[in-house]
Amino acid sequence: MSQALSVLCAGAGGYVGGELLRLLYQHPHVGKVTAHSRSQEHRAIGDVHPTLAPLTDAHFVGGELSELVAQHDVVMMALEHGESARLVGPILAQPPRLLIDLAADFRIADPSLYARYYGPHPTPELLSRFRYGLCDVYGQTLRDATTIAAPGCFATAAQLALYPLRKLITDTQPTLFAITGSSGAGAKPKDSTHHPARAHNLFAYSPFSHRHEAEIVQSLRAWTGRSDATARLLTHSGPMVRGIYLTLHAKVDAVLPPGTVEAALHAAYHDRPLVRVLRKPPELTHAIGSSYALLHGCQSPDGKEIQVTVSIDNLLKGASGQAVQAMNLALGLPETSGLHAVGVFPC
Ligand SMILES: NC(=O)c1ccc[n+]([C@@H]2O[C@H](COP(=O)([O-])OP(=O)(O)OC[C@H]3O[C@@H](n4cnc5c(N)ncnc54)[C@H](OP(=O)(O)O)[C@@H]3O)[C@@H](O)[C@H]2O)c1
Repeated sequence: MSQALSVLCAGAGGYVGGELLRLLYQHPHVGKVTAHSRSQEHRAIGDVHPTLAPLTDAHFVGGELSELVAQHDVVMMALEHGESARLVGPILAQPPRLLIDLAADFRIADPSLYARYYGPHPTPELLSRFRYGLCDVYGQTLRDATTIAAPGCFATAAQLALYPLRKLITDTQPTLFAITGSSGAGAKPKDSTHHPARAHNLFAYSPFSHRHEAEIVQSLRAWTGRSDATARLLTHSGPMVRGIYLTLHAKVDAVLPPGTVEAALHAAYHDRPLVRVLRKPPELTHAIGSSYALLHGCQSPDGKEIQVTVSIDNLLKGASGQAVQAMNLALGLPETSGLHAVGVFPC
């Protein structure tokens, strides 16, 4: 790749959009970044995202997104749910080299599975055009992809836990217990993200109905070949701002020899540059600020139960970092370009 890339980022005023800008402005193969926002048009990027002020004096642009597409190699969309599906038609009519959507609109290939969790899809005919960008699993197979749906944050952590064990788990409904920070709900203030409601507090939400289950079920069925495979995602809101901490628990029919789970994790991820398999359970803060996933796996003394713990930054590995990783893979760039930052601790 000789020429620097130009990237159009829609939804750049939001939390995920801000993190995308931070990564893209520091990416060695990106020469031009256009930050699109309906609500922040004409404002300085550094006024909306103060940490980015040293990186750019540029301002947000507004107007019709589709009219800006032709001037860019890559389009990234970090919009609220449903907006990508509404806007993507004219963009795909004159497609950029690569389109990456970070919302849930195009993550599910089967319209009936989508409908079960989200209601009817407004443009079901477009679902099959998107590749599912779970980068640490699909890696180089994303090369030359032109249209990618970046996975959800909980779904990323859940699938990274499940993938190595897909052949071992006989339990048709593994349990995934997860806690997220308040930035997972976006920049717009809500009762459930208000500081007094979140600080020093912990509560379950979306019992038996979290929408990310759809992505997890879709992958589990594809990986196991079992059409009845499902998964239960137990989601909780935690007192932190960033991060997802997830624990998978599953039963197995056979007795696993000692070290089986650890070996499966190493076999799946030994050559994946942004996954680290640890010797003890990760801590949430050790992933914050980075695009790494930190994993630990073990089994019960009788070899009949599996536990895997995952720590990720929801805004990076769970969103913008994984989207940049997908861009690198699709365009044949080094997979970790622009993603070398390690975590910040304490934070
Ligand atoms: N947050 C996460 O951890 C996470 C992880 C994975 C995927 N996602 C997905 O990524 C997409 C974007 O998520 P997000 O967390 O970035 O949502 P967000 O902060 O609410 O931003 C989404 C868009 O809403 C508008 N907006 C609403 N209120 C705003 C405000 N007060 N300040 C600035 N912009 C505001 C902006 O678009 P305009 O200015 O154009 O109106 C913004 O781009 C969603 O589909 C989400 O599901 C989020």
